[in-house]
Amino acid sequence: MIVAIDGPAGAGKSTISRMIADRYGWTYLDTGAIYRTVTLLALEQGISPGDGGELGRLARNAEIGFQPGPEGAPRVFAGCREVTAAIRSLEVTGNVSEVSAQRQVREALLEKQRQCAAAGNVVVDGRDIGTVVFPNAEVKIFLTASVGERARRRRLELDGKGVHVDQEQMEKDIAARDDYDSGREVAPLKAAGDAVMVDTTSLTIEQVVNRVAEIIDREQET
Ligand code: DC
Repeated sequence: MIVAIDGPAGAGKSTISRMIADRYGWTYLDTGAIYRTVTLLALEQGISPGDGGELGRLARNAEIGFQPGPEGAPRVFAGCREVTAAIRSLEVTGNVSEVSAQRQVREALLEKQRQCAAAGNVVVDGRDIGTVVFPNAEVKIFLTASVGERARRRRLELDGKGVHVDQEQMEKDIAARDDYDSGREVAPLKAAGDAVMVDTTSLTIEQVVNRVAEIIDREQET
């Protein structure tokens, strides 16, 4: 079974996907990490985030891999080098929307994402999983939450890593990323017509996991 979990930044996709994968013993594929790794490599190689041609080449040749990590959080590799922490830097986060809006990048990464999920039961999170990457996914969830709540979650996550950003700035960054991800021409962030919308603003993590599990269980019974 393929479970597609899409939604904007900070809606809880990776936490929920990881916990669902853990509950069912399935694989978790974090597609944002793939776009982030291409962005990291581009920054390191001095490729402009607007240079679709060069970025497409980079994305096609990049060897991006995952290994199981602590608490179900996958470790991410570019070739043999671990990039798990580096792809979460503010610099990568600030450039990933522009890189991921490039058509050549998305084309190059489409097949990689499909191959990663070829093994069977998988929970895939991203922006275009239910619409473009796996339009036939058996379960499609669109997670949302208010901008204020999503900014608060991201801020707390960064606080935990010793990076302090104020709420107002974080709300601006999140809103800008939403606009960019939803407004791009290729595979914009949007809910698939057959996705189940789950607003997580006032739900606990456990409540969201249970809600998603109910949807999966119902699908498994049919
Ligand atoms: O989920 P995340 O914050 O790690 O994603 C980083 C960026 O990657 C996000 O701003 C948009 C892009 N992305 C995408 O365009 N398509 C995906 N399937 C996943 C992420």
